[in-house]
Amino acid sequence: MLLGVNIDHVATLRQQRREDDPDLGSAAIEALSGGADGITIHLREDRRHIQDIDVETIRELVPRLNLEMAASDEMIEIALRCKPNYVCLVPERREELTTEGGLDVIRNEARISASVDRLQSNGIDVSLFIDPQIAQVQAAHRTGAILVELHTGAYSVSSTPRLELAEIKAAASYAKMMGLIVNAGHGLKLGNLAPVAAISDISELNIGHSIISRSIFVGLRQAVAEFKRLLPAT
Ligand code: PXP
Repeated sequence: MLLGVNIDHVATLRQQRREDDPDLGSAAIEALSGGADGITIHLREDRRHIQDIDVETIRELVPRLNLEMAASDEMIEIALRCKPNYVCLVPERREELTTEGGLDVIRNEARISASVDRLQSNGIDVSLFIDPQIAQVQAAHRTGAILVELHTGAYSVSSTPRLELAEIKAAASYAKMMGLIVNAGHGLKLGNLAPVAAISDISELNIGHSIISRSIFVGLRQAVAEFKRLLPAT
């Protein structure tokens, strides 16, 4: 299973002073040294952490870049210019603290399909960040996207996560059966990671907040290594 490390919060810290520290490129290299298989950054409409220049810098530095973004014309133009390895389309609301829910592909199918087509016909694979529901997987499949990322947020905040885990397993299995590549992420921590890492239909986990938090105490390279150790060897 692959580990994608989201380094947005290194940029969050940098933006507190709007100076150069901590250096985002160095963070990406440290994460790769700790065993990250790819780097994820989310260019938000409000530019609260990642800036446009970061996308270009990180693109040059890392072999596998996942760019998270809203399916807006502005973001699609940026992706077409910077050519990340893949794009993960997410819903975005300015007032949210983090990506709170998955894309409603069912209700926005025509618009999302057009975005998927525009990106994939230009050589950028597209992942759709969706809640682990069979109907959303079916809609994601109809858009032609190659990947889905299952939102594990509800699982991560549940005090009795058996039901949420079963939903993730069922959605992963169905998506794989439909021929989609299945990723998952949001809210995963050292303490809740193992049951999700045991789902063999999942190819990659994307983790940000808990890795960056852990890195304050042990450094980014070691924090990534600690998470990577919990994933099945590829
Ligand atoms: N996947 C997606 C699509 C996200 O938007 C985020 C949060 O930026 C993550 C994964 C990582 O979530 P967390 O920071 O809680 O690990």
